[in-house]
Amino acid sequence: MDRQSRIVILTGAGISAESGVPTFRGPDGLWEGHRVEDVATPEAFARNPALVQAFYDARRARLADVAPNAAHIALGRLDSAWPGELLIVTQNVDDLHERGGALRLVHMHGELLSAWCTACDTRHRWQGPLGSFPPCPACGAPQLRPDIVWFGEMPYAMNRILRSLARCDLFVAIGTSGQVYPAAGFVETAREAGARTLELNLDPSAMSARFHESRLGRAGTLVPALVDELLA
Ligand code: OAD
Repeated sequence: MDRQSRIVILTGAGISAESGVPTFRGPDGLWEGHRVEDVATPEAFARNPALVQAFYDARRARLADVAPNAAHIALGRLDSAWPGELLIVTQNVDDLHERGGALRLVHMHGELLSAWCTACDTRHRWQGPLGSFPPCPACGAPQLRPDIVWFGEMPYAMNRILRSLARCDLFVAIGTSGQVYPAAGFVETAREAGARTLELNLDPSAMSARFHESRLGRAGTLVPALVDELLA
């Protein structure tokens, strides 16, 4: 890679695992004990808003107890030092990339620290719980929901992401099981653009065979090493 190369990095729950944020599909994963349809769909929210708010309130509250790990910090270092185009696309709803120093970042599945008012369609930075249905700071309606992309909803920033993928030279996927689309399909889009594709994951993922190279191990070890390689 020369230093003008265009890089897209996709991250998933695995990059936050070493910070103590549970992944979705592991043995102690977030979906264990919860059916996805009960907590992560618009239908679930319509049916049982209290349960859905409680699920995300608990996750939002836990953010105060976790810190970015070596992988988040390495990507922050890459973001500040890389002179070429770079976009970090995270499927994660925690704020650990921001706290690790990443700026060129999009949250394609939304953010725990944002609340969305479905009455006036405004978004607000949000630290506390939503379970008591507090009034929207803009319109006063008690209709704030977690600003999370649920199954059946359109991920955020797709135009920007697809534009970056269509012109990238290197695509790296970190800590994602490759089971949820559209993110799972990004490797194909990047390959069609002629990019080199690299996966960093603890175990082989559903998409491993589609990458030019897969490195197996912990993100906290593999990501700083990759960043050192890129910046060398
Ligand atoms: P998953 O839980 O499906 O996958 C996490 C991946 O990270 C697995 O392949 C693990 O092997 C790997 N992993 C675990 N620990 C790791 C470590 N220390 N270092 C490197 N890799 C590690 O999470 P995602 O792929 O992010 O969407 O899940 C994608 C989407 O599914 C989520 O954004 C969420 C979920 O449904 C929504 O809620 C919309």
